[in-house]
Amino acid sequence: MSDCTACQRDGVNRREFLSASSALAITALLAACGDGDNGNSTGPITVNTTVVLANYSALGTVGGIAVISGAGTPLAVVRSTTSQYRAFSLICPHAGTTVAVNGDGFRCPNHGATFTASGAWTGGERTKGLTEFTVAVNSTAGTLTITS
Ligand code: FES
Repeated sequence: MSDCTACQRDGVNRREFLSASSALAITALLAACGDGDNGNSTGPITVNTTVVLANYSALGTVGGIAVISGAGTPLAVVRSTTSQYRAFSLICPHAGTTVAVNGDGFRCPNHGATFTASGAWTGGERTKGLTEFTVAVNSTAGTLTITS
């Protein structure tokens, strides 16, 4: 017989309580870690912003990566060639933490997922690649329009 007054009152024995508690803990853990498959737990990400290239010196060279501020969602632009740019969401596809620039790619500080400058997952916590946005270059104005 349990010593717990609440358990005696509610008719729950220790084994039933522990079993139910374990099931709840496992369910909560799986929910916190995404869908249990590839870890993708983020929803659609929308963006519509214009970036002035002159404001981001890192984009002056091929391979440069700049974190864009004021876009309403964390994103980065990578200069992939002399005339082309790619933009990626910095929302980690695993569990939504903001990913940081790390060398010539990206790394999530939460569970360590790493990504190339092309957004492809390369290691750490298994997940999808970073969400890529559409980039329209206006070379006359020196701007990029980034949309989802
Ligand atoms: S949130 Fe888990 S690796 Fe980014």
